[in-house]
Amino acid sequence: MDDRLLSALDPGWSAGDPSALVPEHAARQAELAALDPALAALYARGAEVLAGAADAATLKERTVVLLGRERGVVTLALAEIPRLSPEEKKVRGRGLNLAKRWLEEVEKARRAALEQAAETRDALDVTLPGRRPWVGHAHVLAQIRDELLDLFHGLGFSVYTSPEVEQDEYNFAKLNFAPDHPARDAHDTYFVGPDVVLRTHTSPGWVRAMEERRPPLRLVFPGRVYRAEQVDASHMDQFHQLDGLFVDRDVSLADLKGTLNTFARSIYGPKVKTRIIPIYFPFVEPGAQLDVACAICDGTGQGRTGRCPVCKGSGWSELLGAGMVHPNVFRAVGYDPEEVTGFAFGMGLERIAMARYGIPEIRLFLENDLRFLNQF
Ligand code: PHE
Repeated sequence: MDDRLLSALDPGWSAGDPSALVPEHAARQAELAALDPALAALYARGAEVLAGAADAATLKERTVVLLGRERGVVTLALAEIPRLSPEEKKVRGRGLNLAKRWLEEVEKARRAALEQAAETRDALDVTLPGRRPWVGHAHVLAQIRDELLDLFHGLGFSVYTSPEVEQDEYNFAKLNFAPDHPARDAHDTYFVGPDVVLRTHTSPGWVRAMEERRPPLRLVFPGRVYRAEQVDASHMDQFHQLDGLFVDRDVSLADLKGTLNTFARSIYGPKVKTRIIPIYFPFVEPGAQLDVACAICDGTGQGRTGRCPVCKGSGWSELLGAGMVHPNVFRAVGYDPEEVTGFAFGMGLERIAMARYGIPEIRLFLENDLRFLNQF
């Protein structure tokens, strides 16, 4: 009989500490032990497996085995009482009823603890601050690029993109750079292979576009370019450009000037101080450079400690190169220079941002320091 009391309880069942649930546990166990050691063992083991039930389903399963009304260990033991001697009946009857009541208490306490834990787990604390989604924003150069694309879109230009890894032929030869012309050196080219370079400017896009399409063309070419430059406050070995190309019959230098003025006023405001000076580029004739008064020193050329580090004391910041497309470039792409003319321009996006916001240091654009980027 005594063995059978415990045998229905799986010895593998995880056990817990009932005294955490019922403070009187130890005293009760002692009281039962004085009456009947076998009942004390049943109570102790039963209380432990109830306390150790990890979830509601397990608790239910164990409770049925222990206290089930039909086949529970306690019920079966109670059913045997009439067969005992009068003396045994008294002790066992009292002990079993105590064990039953106390086990029911442990079960109730464990059930309450599990319910409470589930509630805490599922609770929604409406006073907690929400998780703020991390929303980024466009990089200052991307903003400038988009603004320019917008502006030129309004002037009828569409976007054409071309590869950053470019053939020497497109980067130089078809743009009228002679094989040994010093202008090639001025570009401080990164070579990927004997005839393949990292493009030094976005102008190779014109060649690709003109080879693909027939005039009239009105296109802009945004992108990243590379030059093996000595890095300083205003030079880096990668930066961004946006070229523009307008090819049609009877395109004139006046059209170019009008476009550049529209551009400069739109970007820097109507009072912007600019100048256009002649300059050589192999792919335009005549060639020009548009300068804007240096935003760092306000055109004075003086910095706080000597000459301005950005314009190098000149008071002017070079904004873009421009000119009328060279006839040799038209010939290289199969256009007839007697039939079409065109203008082109190319600008550095970093320069534009620096001049507009007074940014003194070109390296800031690539450093990804949020203290810098978040200002724009
Ligand atoms: N591609 C030239 C450069 O990177 C800029 C330019 C473009 C000059 C168009 C004239 C016309 O320096």
